[in-house]
Amino acid sequence: MAEPTASAAQTAPAPARDALRVALLGGGTVGSQAARILTEDAAVLADRVGVRLELTGIAVRDTAAVRDWQADPSLYTTDAEALVDGADLVIELMGGIEPARSLIRRALQVGTSVVTGNKALLAEHGEELYRLASETGAQLSFEAAVAGAIPILRPLRDSLSGDTVNRVMGIANGTTNFILDRMDTEGASFADALAEAQRLGYAEADPTADVGGFDAAAKAAILATLAFGSSYTLDQVSVEGITEVTAEDNAAAADAGYVIKLLAIAERDTARDGTAGAILRVHPTLIPREHPLGSVRGAYNAVFVEAENAGQLMFYGPGAGGAPTASAVMGDAVAIGQRIVRGGPARLRTPVAALPALDVSEARTSCMVVLRVADQPGVLRRVAGVFEEHGVSIETLRQVQGADDAAGASLRLITHRARQRDLDDVVAELTTLDAVHEVASVLRVEGN
Ligand code: NAP
Ligand code: HSE
Repeated sequence: MAEPTASAAQTAPAPARDALRVALLGGGTVGSQAARILTEDAAVLADRVGVRLELTGIAVRDTAAVRDWQADPSLYTTDAEALVDGADLVIELMGGIEPARSLIRRALQVGTSVVTGNKALLAEHGEELYRLASETGAQLSFEAAVAGAIPILRPLRDSLSGDTVNRVMGIANGTTNFILDRMDTEGASFADALAEAQRLGYAEADPTADVGGFDAAAKAAILATLAFGSSYTLDQVSVEGITEVTAEDNAAAADAGYVIKLLAIAERDTARDGTAGAILRVHPTLIPREHPLGSVRGAYNAVFVEAENAGQLMFYGPGAGGAPTASAVMGDAVAIGQRIVRGGPARLRTPVAALPALDVSEARTSCMVVLRVADQPGVLRRVAGVFEEHGVSIETLRQVQGADDAAGASLRLITHRARQRDLDDVVAELTTLDAVHEVASVLRVEGN
């Protein structure tokens, strides 16, 4: 796809106009709701922006497909490039890397501002797009890319810019929270809960991005980029999805007063060698039921922020679905529209700090381990010895139930915070003990 050549930045006062031409790329779950709002709420939007937001076309693959909300049929087109070239503002809701990346580049290149909800693209190619926008003076806004309707990116970027954010911990994927919640509260099967999430429009086109943790990992990279002012990509996030979460894990968590959530965590930390950096990780995590994140149900999202001076903040709301996500898209569109109409200069990019991504083995976390062991004298001492040998302190230890065979028992241990590397070494060594029949469950614990 040929890119048009760069033109002058959008910094000069805009000529008087009575409408901004809006190109919508994508007319699916979110795109059809954005089209609906642009059409049904046109008068309200015009009042807020100062001129009309005129929907000039909707780029799709199949112009004849039936949509969640049907726009004027003449608006649907397969010529996305022509739509971009004639626009004052582009809203990209196609998803995926290509052609979304080339179309966004095409717009930014000539100073046309872009709103996108495409976290997969931003987590892989964000740096290149932020730089291009900053060079041409265009805006690139993406509030919808993380946690659906919840305003979280602007607070991180703007409201907390006078503070130091140390940690962001979020339930950032509605599909997996919906599945884990149904499994926890209704005993639903993984497959049934996933099918329902897909029917409700929460899941990505390929749901392995949700259940494999990659969608949450993309959001972790974006959250960390805004929280720490340094640029992170998907490959710097350690990712584990929810496909291995078992009924046994759920039972052990519930028995100990916890609930399992897929958390996206970005935190500042210092490696053993003294390097200051950031650790980004996504994995199923035990959270105390009374923790604010423990009560987040269904497809709702929540992002828990810890800042030096503000303390603990929680942002909560609908994290997925057509209309909630379109709300965040339209918030960005109105803000950009106001800026174009006022003719003000584009926002300068926040300077990028040099905070390297550290390996996840440096992360500090608590861990719950459930072991099936021989019910014999000396077993507890040998098990505890492995933890001691690796410098991992045990917070609680409980014999939770008799094992299947008369000679066995189940032990549930919860550790104090320790380095991930030491916890991994403990688990590896436990599997070699004769007295340990099985390591039945290993889950990280946060928020205790
Ligand atoms: P979707 O339902 O799959 O819709 C994608 C739309 O893009 C469809 O209308 C499709 O056309 C069009 N499209 C895809 N590839 C195209 C191509 N090569 N050329 C022209 N049109 C193309 O996706 P969605 O759920 O609305 O998600 C859109 C974006 O928002 C994604 O980046 C997603 O990650 C993000 N997002 C979604 C949610 C959510 O809850 N769904 C929440 C936050 C962010 P056809 O309809 O003709 O196939
Ligand atoms: N598939 C995503 C989710 C959509 O389930 O959260 C919102 O980004």
